[in-house]
Amino acid sequence: MKSQIVAPSLLTLSVSAFLVFMLNNCGEADTYDKQYQRQLLEQAAVFFRPMPDNAFAEGQEASEELIELGKMLYYEPRLSKSGLISCHTCHNFGLAGVDNLPVSVGHRWQKGPRNAPTVLNAALHSSQFLDGREPDVESQALMPILDPVEMASSEEHVLAVLKSIPEYVKRFHAAFPEEDEPLTYKNVGVAIGAFERILLTYSPFDSFIKGDLDALNEEELNGLETFMSVGCVTCHVRETLGGHTFSKFITPRELSDDVEPDSGRFNLTGREEDMHFFKVPSLLNVAETYPYFHDGSEWSLTETIREVASSQLDIDLTDEELDFLVSFMHALSGEVPEYALKIPDLPPSTADTPKPSFE
Ligand code: HEC
Ligand code: HEC
Repeated sequence: MKSQIVAPSLLTLSVSAFLVFMLNNCGEADTYDKQYQRQLLEQAAVFFRPMPDNAFAEGQEASEELIELGKMLYYEPRLSKSGLISCHTCHNFGLAGVDNLPVSVGHRWQKGPRNAPTVLNAALHSSQFLDGREPDVESQALMPILDPVEMASSEEHVLAVLKSIPEYVKRFHAAFPEEDEPLTYKNVGVAIGAFERILLTYSPFDSFIKGDLDALNEEELNGLETFMSVGCVTCHVRETLGGHTFSKFITPRELSDDVEPDSGRFNLTGREEDMHFFKVPSLLNVAETYPYFHDGSEWSLTETIREVASSQLDIDLTDEELDFLVSFMHALSGEVPEYALKIPDLPPSTADTPKPSFE
């Protein structure tokens, strides 16, 4: 609510200074803050929910052996044709699970068409990729390995590499004890997916949602209030603040430059009503996953928010609202699990291991 600005008289100034003094000293200010915090938490509980401990589906089992194998494969550059590119090249844990490039660079410096989203918390999304073309992290993981502009490999190459290294053969048997022939391309995805299901981050905002009223500072609380009141919650909801629905978006660059706008979900469904539709991205760790949008064309978080407010909600945010929202976005960052950060010791190649190729 906007109050009219009037020049305060000396008297009102000193009265309010006195009141602030009294409130702080009688603990009354605390009570007021607590009320505001509680009220916001109550409102927020309608749109958001606490982060789970992991992202395994109900009944889905994963042993330590499976998760550790998945972690090794995630860091394994020998799955790529060049022996140079792993999942971690583009989804770097030192960089919040992204590469901080407008669009990713893969085999022989080829550029892909899209910006890489983070792998952190991705397992919680209802579908994978910016257009939602894969249902889960297990099936998604098999795509970049074969993509000619990413890892440029083949199923045969991947299996030849893994079968040539005795420790991998042993580890596949330990990870899939019920299978006679566990070393399959599909199981590469199952293992990497299991590892991704523990890649969750816990933000100050999550602590707030779990009931720690002091987890957010005043700016961040104002940002949360703005986020709900201006309607960002039409799309960015649940524990991931996104990742579940689709919405139409053409970036300012696509509108202004001489470039063909990305067709988004239309490529997958062929339906006119899906033209330029993209998955509403999760906003967890968004302060660190610049540049923004599916074409990575915007580096500034403030300008990103100004743009989505205008195109998705048809509103012009004030500078103050933008500042609040940016503060709130920062409260959505969390630490990468320490287990994931520890680089695994990968077993050495043997004489039978296919050699890297830069063709
Ligand atoms: C060359 C860079 C590159 C490599 C290597 C790469 N990715 Fe990606 N990843 C991307 C890009 C770009 C996208 C978005 C593509 C799209 O939506 O069309 C993406 C999307 C994803 C997503 C979807 C996340 C979401 O929110 O929808 C996941 C999960 C993911 N990658 C995991 C992996 C895994 C696991 C590997 C290794 C097997 C891997 N990536 C290898 C660049 C890369
Ligand atoms: C109608 C649905 C909708 C609403 C409402 C909405 N967004 Fe989004 N938002 C999207 C979509 C879709 C994208 C992804 C655009 C793309 O790159 O294709 C996006 C992207 C973003 C991004 C960039 C994320 C990234 O990784 O590139 C931020 C930040 C963001 N929104 C914040 C907000 C804020 C803050 C509000 C409220 C002012 C808001 N959004 C309202 C749908 C919405």
